[in-house]
Amino acid sequence: MSPFLLLQLWACLGAAITENSHNTQNCDASTFTAPDVPSAKVLSITAEERRNVDMPAAPGLLNPITDLNFCDIKVYLTHPGTNDKVLVQTWLPLSEDLWNGRFQATGGGAWATGMLDIGLGPAIASGYAASSTTGGYPFDFFSADWMLHKDKSINWDLVHNFATRSLADQVYVGKSLAEQYYGHKPSYSYWNGCSQGGRQGYMMAQRYPGLLDGVMAAAPAIRLPSVFLFGIWPIVAMNEAGTLVSNCEFDWFASKALEECDMLDGAKDGVMGDPEACTSFDPLNYIGQKMECSGLEILVTEAVAEAVRRVHQGPTTPFGVNVFQGAPYGTPLNAFLSITIDSNGVRTLNDPSMLDTFPRTILLRHSKFNFNVSKLTASEYFSLWAQADEEFGWILNSDNSDLSAFRDSGAKLLSWHGTNDHTIPHRNTITYRQHVERDIGGAKAVDDFYRLFLAPGVGHCGFGVGPAPKDPLEELIAWVERGEPPETLASEIKNQEGELVTRNLCRYPRTPKYLATGGMNNASNWGCEMPDGEEEGGFAAELKDNLKQAGLGLD
Ligand SMILES: *[C@@H]1O[C@H](CO)[C@@H](O)[C@H](O)[C@H]1NC(C)=O
Ligand SMILES: *[C@@H]1O[C@H](CO)[C@@H](O)[C@H](O)[C@H]1NC(C)=O
Repeated sequence: MSPFLLLQLWACLGAAITENSHNTQNCDASTFTAPDVPSAKVLSITAEERRNVDMPAAPGLLNPITDLNFCDIKVYLTHPGTNDKVLVQTWLPLSEDLWNGRFQATGGGAWATGMLDIGLGPAIASGYAASSTTGGYPFDFFSADWMLHKDKSINWDLVHNFATRSLADQVYVGKSLAEQYYGHKPSYSYWNGCSQGGRQGYMMAQRYPGLLDGVMAAAPAIRLPSVFLFGIWPIVAMNEAGTLVSNCEFDWFASKALEECDMLDGAKDGVMGDPEACTSFDPLNYIGQKMECSGLEILVTEAVAEAVRRVHQGPTTPFGVNVFQGAPYGTPLNAFLSITIDSNGVRTLNDPSMLDTFPRTILLRHSKFNFNVSKLTASEYFSLWAQADEEFGWILNSDNSDLSAFRDSGAKLLSWHGTNDHTIPHRNTITYRQHVERDIGGAKAVDDFYRLFLAPGVGHCGFGVGPAPKDPLEELIAWVERGEPPETLASEIKNQEGELVTRNLCRYPRTPKYLATGGMNNASNWGCEMPDGEEEGGFAAELKDNLKQAGLGLD
């Protein structure tokens, strides 16, 4: 055979191989048949090829993304017996060589069931086939009016979509469309979300085991009705203590807590490694001390110190019953609350209406026109709390701690939560994880399929002063696909001096300890330590199991 012919044959073979590995269908509505969705009927499918799409930074999208090429498929479906019309949007990398072979269901945020393009863009940029959903109402982070019918009664069909049903629908639809387009099923399927999206991830694990191989759920809004009311607690606590506390004063107390407790992890680095270890701090010890706000020297009064103590204690009834965890000392509280103090010492609560959506719209159905969150008393607040629990807890709490079916499916749940989260206290996630340990047979058994990492100094879904996880979804993939469970989570942040600070976040219940040599900014110089008195899988867990079997388990 002449070298020329051989070359031609090779070229032909090469072309054949390329053809075979690119059997992607046309991005066209006629390519797709209605996906089989157990609870819904598909109404329509459209598909549009989109090339060189740029996405600017937006709320919920920190970094701009450029040059995306994907097939944009819109599936409208309805749940028989309801009048809903739900959009499930699926983006598929345009050709198989742009696809990493995986499917990713992206979560929502605040009042949105899904974030649509804001969630889909980053997933596509990383090579995933991805889906998102409206849940049957127009996208809106901040309004809950969709939850009411025109006559102000609750639209339970949409609540059902938001709570559970639409989450599974988007997985059925997305996986099916990917299979139809590429000619084979995704190799693995994941959930990826934070906050509301984190709650949804936990819901997928609790309610739909077997649909996904892995769930990455950060800062989950477990006990969502309580989380919404938790945001108002500082106002109630201050009303009860008889004084407002300005942001400046809160910040001063946060800095005092840090001064007292920063060194407990062995390093004075501006981050408390374990806020639970900060037990000595008490705002009441600071009564009479001086600080400066708005050029004014202010003495800490008993009322201000008491208000700060109550705020951090978390919602606690006038009878002393604590119904929800508080954010630890050192957590900045000024994200939703703006309280200023002027040069005459007059404190003003600036418009707190962002906090009142849930009670005003949903609990009161807009019925009390004089409802004013800034005047809420403890007794009004706790009666709203009871109503929220009673009316919505059963469908929105997402706190079923029996994860045995999820465990048996072989799937993994990876979760992380910042310890300076002012929106959802990390202790809420710890409580849930402890309930799972109680129900599943101790910490070690739970670590086989569900791991939690706390991120010191990190705020809600990121932000704050501590290093946040770099790519937790990649670490979940290593666990699911290669059997490498994460012992720590790689994290980083640029500090105020512009230096890179790295940490390997410790697996709950371990806490970080500086090894006392080498640079504090370098993760290699830190270790993780089990809390005192608790031994891994040891006596304490065994004792708890025995008590549980004897019907004496503690809640
Ligand atoms: C709520 O009460 C505060 C304090 O009295 C007042 O400044 C504010 O305007 C009221 N807000 C509404 C929406 O009525
Ligand atoms: C961090 O410390 C390790 C161990 O001392 C060292 O090998 C590594 O180079 C350090 N990394 C940086 C970025 O300084």
